Amino acid sequence: TNQPSCVIVIFGATGDLAKRKLFPSIYNLFKNGNLSDRFAVVGVARREWSNDFFREKVIEAVHDASDAEVDSEDVASFSDHFYYHPFDVRDTASFVSLKQLLDQLDDTYEVPNNRLFYMAMAPEYFGTIALHLDEAKLTEVDGWKRLVIEKPFGHDLPSAEVLNDQIRQVFSEDEIYRIDHYLGKEMVQNIEVIRFANAMFEQLWNNRFIANIQLTSSESLDVGERGNYYEKSGALRDMVQNHMLQMVSLLAMEPPINLSTEEVRGEKVKVLRSLRHVPASEADDYFVRGQYGAGEIDSQAIKGFREVESVTDDSNTETFVAAKLMIDNHRWAGVPFYIRTGKSMTVKSTQIVVEFKDLPMNLYGTQDVSLGKNLLTIHIQPDEGITLQMNVKKPGSNGETTPIAMEFSKKSALKMNSPEAYERLMHDCMIGDATNFTRWDEVAHSWQFIDSIAEHWRDKLGEEFPNYPAGSMGPIASDELLAKDGFHWWPIT
Ligand code: BG6
Repeated sequence: TNQPSCVIVIFGATGDLAKRKLFPSIYNLFKNGNLSDRFAVVGVARREWSNDFFREKVIEAVHDASDAEVDSEDVASFSDHFYYHPFDVRDTASFVSLKQLLDQLDDTYEVPNNRLFYMAMAPEYFGTIALHLDEAKLTEVDGWKRLVIEKPFGHDLPSAEVLNDQIRQVFSEDEIYRIDHYLGKEMVQNIEVIRFANAMFEQLWNNRFIANIQLTSSESLDVGERGNYYEKSGALRDMVQNHMLQMVSLLAMEPPINLSTEEVRGEKVKVLRSLRHVPASEADDYFVRGQYGAGEIDSQAIKGFREVESVTDDSNTETFVAAKLMIDNHRWAGVPFYIRTGKSMTVKSTQIVVEFKDLPMNLYGTQDVSLGKNLLTIHIQPDEGITLQMNVKKPGSNGETTPIAMEFSKKSALKMNSPEAYERLMHDCMIGDATNFTRWDEVAHSWQFIDSIAEHWRDKLGEEFPNYPAGSMGPIASDELLAKDGFHWWPIT
């Protein structure tokens, strides 16, 4: 049914993610009739909050997150479904009392013993919590039990394996929903549709017709208050291992035989398996890293990464990554996939540009005028849409051409109504659809690919840092990476 009924347990309910994404998403699901009113949410965290205080926080979060007026009475009755349970992650007793609360809520709200456990707290506790859930029998249910787990899923392959082994002792693979919120974005989901529902793209979607594919996910925000996490993570682990590689696999995968969860994920994992492994000795040919120094964004002075709190003066952490990925299979042999992502860049934007090869012969160019490239741009955010660049006759001219852009793009009005990624993914999880969540083998292959680069960078000191000013599109080496192959980054539009 489309109106699932369950008890949602959020570990880390006092945190930022719960406030900014989870509470507002659950509210929208509820308001739009995508959640049965037979539900309850239990917030779990270390702080000693009361139910009332927690409910106030939920109400505040819902108001803060909506652009439109929200009905205060609605939100208040929604917040009545929320309960707070203080706990100590290592103390079995707090799990025993949590179980009592959950059993009682099942009765109160007539929930058929379905439980969704959402891990939205420091990742070092994910494993411990899972084991405690088992020990205190919170996972012995008549309905379903599911685990939603936020990134980071480990910080390299060995740590991801340890975490996976721990949670697999309690949840089976099909009960584990590893969230990658990019997979909940409207236009990321659209990649598949654009490719597999359009004859004019899918026929050309290979190395005979495509010169390269460029994927940019730039952020204008700096690291802000996340210095502590980010200093240990860096852009490679924070964005590339998950969001960027997931988008690459959607762009590169073969058409699945149908759209079922396992068929789609099976095709995606094949892409990750065919990524050309880059050994540390060749890392510099394929990967560029950057760290921002002081600069300016929107006429505001931004201090350099090394001056951020909890970041060391000689930090070796990258806040920017550009890379050339090669997918060694029949479809993609020879076609570079260029990716770049970073903090404190010019704009916040996620965009994909597919650059088509030139025609075999140019009837219209002269020595110094060549035809414009055919480009298919998929705008993921902030605008959502696609643009197709093609050549037409320059009006009034004789044999001259000019590139034009055909645009289908949803800005402002429509965009506000796009459901938030989290809303969609939480609903998917409650109805048991794991298609837009990452399977263990996807995670494992991504780490395997990333680890040799991370190791190489760890051993290579960051004396060249900072190497791009805040407010730019990254270090010069990122442009050189494409120039070596005769390409350049297409501007963000
Ligand atoms: C998160 C990263 O996964 O994605 C953040 O940890 C990053 O560092 C964020 O800012 C970007 O997400 P979005 O949806 O704003 O593009």
